[in-house]
Amino acid sequence: MPSVPARLLRVHPERPDPDVVAEAAAVLREGGLVGLPTETVYGLAAHARSAEAVRRVFAAKCRPADNPLIVHVDGSDALPRVAAAVTPLAASLAERWWPGPLTLVVDAANDLPSITTGGLDSVGVRVPAHAVALAVLRATGLPLAAPSANRSGRPSPTTAAHVVADLGSAVDLVLDAGPCRVGVESTVVDARGLVPVVLRPGAVSANQLGLAVAPAAAPGGADRTVDPGVSPGTRYRHYAPRCRVAVAPIGRGAAMATALSSAGERVGLLAPAAAPDGVLGLGRPRDAEALARRLFAALRAGEAAGVDVVVVEAVEEHGLGVAIMDRLRRAASG
Ligand code: TXA
Ligand code: MG
Repeated sequence: MPSVPARLLRVHPERPDPDVVAEAAAVLREGGLVGLPTETVYGLAAHARSAEAVRRVFAAKCRPADNPLIVHVDGSDALPRVAAAVTPLAASLAERWWPGPLTLVVDAANDLPSITTGGLDSVGVRVPAHAVALAVLRATGLPLAAPSANRSGRPSPTTAAHVVADLGSAVDLVLDAGPCRVGVESTVVDARGLVPVVLRPGAVSANQLGLAVAPAAAPGGADRTVDPGVSPGTRYRHYAPRCRVAVAPIGRGAAMATALSSAGERVGLLAPAAAPDGVLGLGRPRDAEALARRLFAALRAGEAAGVDVVVVEAVEEHGLGVAIMDRLRRAASG
């Protein structure tokens, strides 16, 4: 790992400076690590075919070796270069959703190093809907392995400052294009069969994938398509700041914050209502989209302010709300 601190370069989110893009591409071609904005969260990008570069990603994140990385490509044309087989389902989902926050799990091409796929014979692939990520992908001409650019177990980074805070000198270059538009990660879908199976809920909802089930009719609720045994990453503790996270029922965020504050705790609140006296306001998201954009940043802001507990008010568990509540429950557990 380099001993010099990460270089941070500002870049326009829609019209990235070609010189900055070229510099990032050069770092990646040489096996270095680049913190990159995508529409979901910042990724820690590396040459997906270089076992040595990918090894550095695992080391920088302290990531368990059996948790595979998502491989990013610059268009659906590139899918056959990293997949051994593209099913009709994968082709149609790619056509509909790429560029976008949907990761397709397909059979992996033989020449992908096993460290990239976490030792699996499948690979998760997506085309990010972000001009900076796409420009860097095109400039390198490489598939780029890019997990979220946080230390393993921490909230995902939605700004360049989050990347620097977690990874410091373990990353060679960070491109700062401002906060991410979506704020929660891509939906991971197994596209090897006849119907999509959601392995991780994300920015594209099960409903949008045509997998809607009436919550009351399904034993597991609206997210019953999630099988925690299949996506390795969902086995680990995740998204947790260095303070407690408490999930308040809908409409009860301020009341829960007041109760905890009265009990002597230093409390932060992320809820549509204003923060009561003595409680640190961490944002007032008015809908699920706004909450998704703010969630990880608010957890980090609460932690930085030294609160004991961040209270986050729940949202309805449909659409984007399924992914939000999945992240919130994980952040609050343990
Ligand atoms: O939005 C995103 O997906 C972001 C941006 C940077 O693209 N990336 C991201 O990567 O969230 P990461 O590594 O933090 O999460 C990837 C998830 C993990 O839960 C991992 O286990 C799962 O995808 N995954 C990757 N490849 C898989 C595979 N072949 N089979 C099953 N799950 C896989
Ligand atoms: Mg992650």
